[in-house]
Amino acid sequence: MTAEQAPTRTDFEALYERNPDPFGVRTRWYERRKLQVVLAGLTRERYATAWDPACGTGDLALRLSWRCDRVLATDAAPRAVHLTEELCRATTVQVAQLALPGDPTTRPGFPAELDLVVLSEVLYYLDAADRRAATQMVLTRLAADGEVATVHWSHHPHDAHLSGEAVTEELHRRLTAAGLRREVHHEDLDFVSSHWTRGRTPEPTPDPDPDATSHPVPDPIPHPEPTR
Ligand SMILES: C[S@@+](CC[C@H](N)C(=O)[O-])C[C@H]1O[C@@H](n2cnc3c(N)ncnc32)[C@H](O)[C@@H]1O
Repeated sequence: MTAEQAPTRTDFEALYERNPDPFGVRTRWYERRKLQVVLAGLTRERYATAWDPACGTGDLALRLSWRCDRVLATDAAPRAVHLTEELCRATTVQVAQLALPGDPTTRPGFPAELDLVVLSEVLYYLDAADRRAATQMVLTRLAADGEVATVHWSHHPHDAHLSGEAVTEELHRRLTAAGLRREVHHEDLDFVSSHWTRGRTPEPTPDPDPDATSHPVPDPIPHPEPTR
């Protein structure tokens, strides 16, 4: 785990101006896999309201809209807001410019309660005071059975205050101290992702269906006749 460092700040607005997909969300396997792992880790099939507080290109917000009744997508960079608006044009995703630890629920037309918050590669760009304030704000706005999900590059980006591993553990301490439970934790060489809930009704264990017949899986490899 790495210690807090004062980083070189990145001008995300300038990055998006130069390249509409500066992190390769649509091209790099790391990014595409990261997105799929976070979505697969969501503990519920559907949510009423989700918030993506650093929407970037809008790719996560778009996919959340397929599983959520309402999605709020915000970002500190106006260019990211524009990219998300473009990508999510045909959906119900609501997009606005907002910098964490800003509270989206105070904006006109935004719901007061959030069922899902997905912090994707953003927490480590906030300094210690802003991370604390952002976590407190999320806890205040999260529904009684709400879920917080995170994913970060495990290592320490040159422009971040902490490594992804450290920022995830810090959030884990804060959320569990507030009564949330970690339900999913994925850690590999490249990224770390966790999901915490405030109280989830477990899925019932499926009873075996007595009428079900077993269908043998066909073996695709042809077996040659034995020769003598
Ligand atoms: C590495 S990109 C990640 C984008 C997207 N969440 C993803 O995982 O692909 C970091 C994003 O965080 C945004 N960001 C940085 N600081 C922020 C802040 N204080 N509040 C909201 N967004 C911020 C940047 O504008 C940028 O879109």
